[in-house]
Amino acid sequence: MQQINRAVFDEVMVPNYAPAKMIPVKGQGSRVWDQQGKEYIDFAGGIAVNCLGHCHPALVSALTDQAEKLWHLSNVMTNEPALQLAQVLVNATFAEKVYFANSGAEANEAALKLARRVAKDNVGDEKDQIIAFKQGFHGRTFFTVTVGGQPAYSDGFGPKPAAIEHAEFNNIDSLKALISDRTCAVMVEPLQGEGGVVPADVEFMKAVRQLCDQHKALLIFDEVQTGVGRTGELYAYMGLGVTPDILTTAKALGGGFPIGAMLTTTALAKHLVPGTHGSTYGGNPLACAVALAAVNTVNTPEVLDGVKAKEQLFRDGLRQINEQYKVFDTIRGQGLLLGAVLNADYAGKARDFMMAAADEGLMALVAGANVVRFTPSLVIPDADIREGLARFERAVAKIVSA
Ligand SMILES: Cc1ncc(COP(=O)(O)O)c(C=O)c1O
Repeated sequence: MQQINRAVFDEVMVPNYAPAKMIPVKGQGSRVWDQQGKEYIDFAGGIAVNCLGHCHPALVSALTDQAEKLWHLSNVMTNEPALQLAQVLVNATFAEKVYFANSGAEANEAALKLARRVAKDNVGDEKDQIIAFKQGFHGRTFFTVTVGGQPAYSDGFGPKPAAIEHAEFNNIDSLKALISDRTCAVMVEPLQGEGGVVPADVEFMKAVRQLCDQHKALLIFDEVQTGVGRTGELYAYMGLGVTPDILTTAKALGGGFPIGAMLTTTALAKHLVPGTHGSTYGGNPLACAVALAAVNTVNTPEVLDGVKAKEQLFRDGLRQINEQYKVFDTIRGQGLLLGAVLNADYAGKARDFMMAAADEGLMALVAGANVVRFTPSLVIPDADIREGLARFERAVAKIVSA
């Protein structure tokens, strides 16, 4: 058999990604090893997915137990893990109804279609406008990528879904200028992840809620990146004191197994009658069994309070690094979704920091060209945080002295 290495990617894979040179083969907790046995500390967490690190015993046992019982049925039948997971999500949140999908984009696709359908049923075809925010990110299906606030991602694929407009994030006047009774929904991330780890101001979010109420527009929170404990709350809306009409969740929901969900109220959910929307795999027993274990493990005071304590460790460590090397303007974000914003001297160099960190045995992320992003496991041991920060400091030192 041909040896598997990074060159094979270039031979047989569609070139829409440019993955790192090393190929990880094993993970345990917050450590990962590549084909050559080199060890990494994982501050990336699969982009805010591996909420319990790699191969957490609760997830391994949920996966293997379910694998011995029943993998897949399709939605011609329901199944126990899906119903249990939906019950847990309903009990833990504002929601009364759940729709399962396989990814964040699909959860958002469902949310947007629901909003359009509710407006059509209650008012008429003219209430079709969707407002989202510049630099927002909602997935890569053509509808969700168009709702996302980076036209570069949706350009070049022909005519885009219509009636979608973008306001400035954290600027309520900009939303006021666009919103009207024609607006059917406002979609927003409570903390923009891909757009640079930018938290929403509480006052801004309250005003968004108020404008939505005034114009009978639905407020959709995309919590694909912030959800399932990432900010130190089960969902970020809980910390903001603003409740959406629809919430989407994916990424950490399955702790590494693909699953997404749309959460909403009974009054809205009733518009998606049989035949209006669906998915072959959505609510698959294997995915739901793993997600049930992930949510139950994360939604405890130990884990959620731990996120806040670990955030402090990160902030203290990054501040110390910055006192010595003066590379960041600020550290922003919440919980374990943190962004170190590079100062003018290092503008545009976030990728260099990420690559230098990898050389030192640390997996980090970027969020745009100016922000180094950290989204580790929510239960990363404090010792791994300290060791990871020590490795990051060595990477920073190399860049500064280069
Ligand atoms: C806020 C947000 N929404 C949606 C998505 C898309 O999720 P997926 O890649 O699972 O489709 C992402 C992915 O980064 C995200 O951060």
